[in-house]
Amino acid sequence: MLSLVLIWLHVVAAAVWVGGMVFFVTVLVPVVRSGEFATHSAAIVRATGRRFRTVGWTALAVLIVTGFGTLLVRGIGPAELIDTATWATPFGRLLGGKLLLVGLVLVLSTAHDLYVGPRASAAAIAAPTSPAATALRRRASLMGRSNLVLALAIVALAVTMTRGCGV
Ligand code: HEM
Repeated sequence: MLSLVLIWLHVVAAAVWVGGMVFFVTVLVPVVRSGEFATHSAAIVRATGRRFRTVGWTALAVLIVTGFGTLLVRGIGPAELIDTATWATPFGRLLGGKLLLVGLVLVLSTAHDLYVGPRASAAAIAAPTSPAATALRRRASLMGRSNLVLALAIVALAVTMTRGCGV
């Protein structure tokens, strides 16, 4: 029963995080950047970005806690995690790749949310057409899209982990 609850929480958190990024990149930003909302687009992107930051980091925290929880339920605890034999198995190799991408996402999200994102939206409000605002907006957008690609790769590794390697 515990493993079912952990995996359910894990999959729901993955849906919230990945779904939220897909919505942001494919629906929200294109709509607010279209002519109709152009005057308020920077303020709308900043406000929704801030709100999604809380939801996104909460989902990531749930993913990490339930991820280690499901490993424990599978009998993979601290001793197994420091044992190189664990990482040499098909499941271990996929998990290793997944955790590497999760680490990359955490670094990119931190840089985006704490540094590039706030500077991009402040510049977009202060001087929307300035070269600095354009450069920062492009960098923030590239980081956001890279995170989405990484998230989709993480889900692909996750599905292969549980179904692809016959464990
Ligand atoms: C941060 C982004 C993450 C995403 C988007 C994600 C996504 C997923 C998804 C969608 C599954 C279900 C796959 C399936 O049933 O076919 C899954 C399973 C799993 N994930 Fe994650 N995960 C993430 C992070 C983690 C972390 C940090 C860990 C470990 C510390 C982890 C460990 C696991 C394990 C062990 C399973 C297999 C569960 C089972 O069937 O027993 N995940 N993950």
